[in-house]
Amino acid sequence: MRKPFVAGNWKMHGSKAFVTELNQGLKQQTNSMTEIDIAVCPPALYISQTIAELEGSTVKVGAQNIAEEASQGAFTGEISIAMLKDMQCDYVILGHSERRAIYGETDEQIANKVALALEAGITPIFCVGETLEERESGTMESVIAMQLDAVISKVGVEEFEKIVIAYEPVWAIGTGVTASPEQAQEVHAFIRDKLARLNRAVAEKVIIQYGGSVKPNNAAELFAQADIDGGLIGGASLNADDFAAICQAAQDVASA
Ligand code: PGA
Repeated sequence: MRKPFVAGNWKMHGSKAFVTELNQGLKQQTNSMTEIDIAVCPPALYISQTIAELEGSTVKVGAQNIAEEASQGAFTGEISIAMLKDMQCDYVILGHSERRAIYGETDEQIANKVALALEAGITPIFCVGETLEERESGTMESVIAMQLDAVISKVGVEEFEKIVIAYEPVWAIGTGVTASPEQAQEVHAFIRDKLARLNRAVAEKVIIQYGGSVKPNNAAELFAQADIDGGLIGGASLNADDFAAICQAAQDVASA
């Protein structure tokens, strides 16, 4: 039985005051949700504030990216996995489609970062997903397979026990257009089958989140799908009530 995992990706949003208010709301509303794992991933500057404010709650904290270099050095503007470890972060989002599309991150770079996170004992939330063009031209499965293969060949399939996969169709991110539960389930099953062909036990355990316009009104039917183990939430994670309602949907599925 997999424990659902709901994570908030705050992207480049927030201020000291906004973060405090959001964290207070999250702390109050998520405390009884013991059947699921929950995390939030603030912008790096607000990680230490968030860790302090969420102390004593069940909500863990993650980052949104790391450098390709492990510890320190002359890399202006970058943040290393060693620094996240030092801050006691539990997760890091890697390979988000915005990093791929806007900053040109390649499958190879993302695989390197996943390897660094695993070495540091920080759980990567490894994002995969197709664009609308790729879906419509029938290359969706090969695109997702390639994204997965880069990480499988770098770290080995056994490591996926320690990796969270987030399936995020690019066309559903921030658009208000959610994949239907059936569309999402189809890809989640494809991902799990692909891993199962290499290692069935690992495939059974790996957490696969869905991301892309998850809201309180569509979370329950997405999370009810057999291969959807929670979500990676963007816009709705910036509102404590909405994020808590999405977490509650996962909690309800887990305790049903
Ligand atoms: P969204 O973002 O929920 O705003 O669509 C999801 C994500 O990019 O992780």
